[in-house]
Amino acid sequence: MTEQTRDITIESLMSEDRSFPPSEAFRAQANVSSESIYEEAERDLEGYWAKQAEKLDWFRPYDTVLEWNAPYAKWFIGGKLNISYNCLDRHVRNGGGEKIAYYWEAEDGERREISFAQLLEDVCRCANALKELGVRKGDRVAIYLPMILELPVAMLACARLGAPHNVVFGGFSAESLAGRINDSEAKILITADGGIRKGNVVPLKANADDALQSTPSIEHVLLVRRTGEDVPVADGRDIWWHDLVPQQQTECEPEQLDSEDMLYLLYTSGTTAKPKGIVHTTAGYLLGVMTTHEMVFDIKSDDVYWCAADIGWVTGHSYIVYGPLANHTTGVIYEGVPDFPARDRWWEIIERYKVTVLYTAPTAIRAHMKWGTEHAEKHDLSTLRLLGSVGEPINPEAWLWYHKYIGGERCPVVDTWWQTETGAILIAPLPGITSLKPGSATRPLPGVEADVVDEQGNSVPAGGGGYLVLKKPWPSMLRGLYKELERYEETYWSRFPGMYFPGDGAKRGEDGYYWLLGRVDDVMNVSGHRISTMEVESALVSDQRVAEAAVIGQKNDLTGEAIFAFVILRGETEPAPDLGEELRQYVGRKIGAIARPKQIMFTPELPKTRSGKIMRRLLRDIANDRALGDTTTLADSSVVETIRTASAASKSDE
Ligand code: WT7
Repeated sequence: MTEQTRDITIESLMSEDRSFPPSEAFRAQANVSSESIYEEAERDLEGYWAKQAEKLDWFRPYDTVLEWNAPYAKWFIGGKLNISYNCLDRHVRNGGGEKIAYYWEAEDGERREISFAQLLEDVCRCANALKELGVRKGDRVAIYLPMILELPVAMLACARLGAPHNVVFGGFSAESLAGRINDSEAKILITADGGIRKGNVVPLKANADDALQSTPSIEHVLLVRRTGEDVPVADGRDIWWHDLVPQQQTECEPEQLDSEDMLYLLYTSGTTAKPKGIVHTTAGYLLGVMTTHEMVFDIKSDDVYWCAADIGWVTGHSYIVYGPLANHTTGVIYEGVPDFPARDRWWEIIERYKVTVLYTAPTAIRAHMKWGTEHAEKHDLSTLRLLGSVGEPINPEAWLWYHKYIGGERCPVVDTWWQTETGAILIAPLPGITSLKPGSATRPLPGVEADVVDEQGNSVPAGGGGYLVLKKPWPSMLRGLYKELERYEETYWSRFPGMYFPGDGAKRGEDGYYWLLGRVDDVMNVSGHRISTMEVESALVSDQRVAEAAVIGQKNDLTGEAIFAFVILRGETEPAPDLGEELRQYVGRKIGAIARPKQIMFTPELPKTRSGKIMRRLLRDIANDRALGDTTTLADSSVVETIRTASAASKSDE
């Protein structure tokens, strides 16, 4: 294994042999009830996707299903369509305008519901307002909003105009926002005065104003009033949403976009400091999210579906906005945290809206587990019929808890593997036919060809662990990294030529089931979100007092991994007790709270190879209290002992 490769542990999962076949009742009503779909897709990949593509509404039919010049794919070439039309207009035209598109609930209890017809009107108004601000097809629009209805409205308005959106999660800092705006050269920023989180105001406009000092491309800021805070409004540049949007026309002709026109950009952490701008396009992406939403969650027309992620992440893009709306599904959007005002908030929401399908992350499930079953027990959760998980491997204990206490042992739990880059779910059960195994995402979906390979790219025999790869293109795949073609090839396609490498380790059992084993690159998975060690390190060393930093993921029961930083201070600085806390807060401000290290350890040295590379593997072993692996390439072996002693001392201080 190379220095970069994380030691993979599979013991806890290997012993997992419990199996949950679909019940007869579930199978009988399932959207997919026959295994033949896998063979069908394998026999004729393009034919399979062409058949699925009949579910889309086209302004002009496509000529060619797929053009594959590895690693570049084009899907549905020549087709013309519009995603907002597919998500809204066609349902309204088919008489489905009255149906609720979203039940929205604020953290403070305020509630709104919006029908498909109303949503279409709001989207048209917003699109017309953006036009008035000069937005044209191809212009990028940055969006930095809390979980309010204006967020999907703004995204769909961009999609209507063919102006790619670049949504920045509301938890990110001013600096992260500025970086993403500048990389995408966005013309407009849509933000709000503030957001609400755990009863407190998140100062979005203040952050945005900081960011806007270094974002020359922004011409206007469209500002939503959410919290009512007094915020500065720059003359000529900032325009209140309520002064511009409501008076617009409720009709706006959707642009006839090419299948391969860019729908959005979304930045995600990579192994080098600069976030990667993942590019998704129109037809393939929509088809990917729509079909998976329908198959994996077994969506029916009367479902009330709740994906409890934030729209600022890809999960929200694909499974709160585009997939569910394209399927004419009623969804729930909740603005706040799960334990405000009390720990039964989620269960209260499920009872109130009679939620039937819940999609969340293992880290949230583990938090609920820790809080105890009494909170769920207070509520009627009997409407639930299916549960989903995403973001990181789900440990079997959490799976079983979710299945028993939330799903009442009657709901299938679908563990769904995918990433920002894949756009849509790729490995997951089809709940009407797949027997579930706690901790396994089960099998690649129809049309997805995955494998587990060794260093050389050879298939690993059943039962063995290795690197997950994908061997065929899929419609919702990323089309590249924004303005960084070479980096696209290098990051995903160079390690195993001809194969897509997502950066995850996996094991495949005798039964063909996949067990995801976490990232093998220098990317941590904290609460289901990818954070690059490099980004946190650069943030730390940007403090004058820090000479060098090495960041690793430490195993954590609640968040999967927690950020652990080894820091070398500059000569004159003493590791004062408050300095660790100060640096933690500093990183939080610089990148966002999610990237704040949980622990900082001051150390006089770091273990390095003779060529000067930091040996993170050893640091991981130290932080995770594991026996040290191979240390033969270490330049100075006494370093590790020094750190170990310091680490033991800092643990006894806790
Ligand atoms: C990385 C992608 C996909 C939306 C949320 C995160 C990990 C995701 C699973 C799963 C094991 C998973 C992988 C992947 N991951 N889902 N079901 N089992 N690992 O999107 O930020 O792009 O992160 O999350 O490591 O590569 P993302």
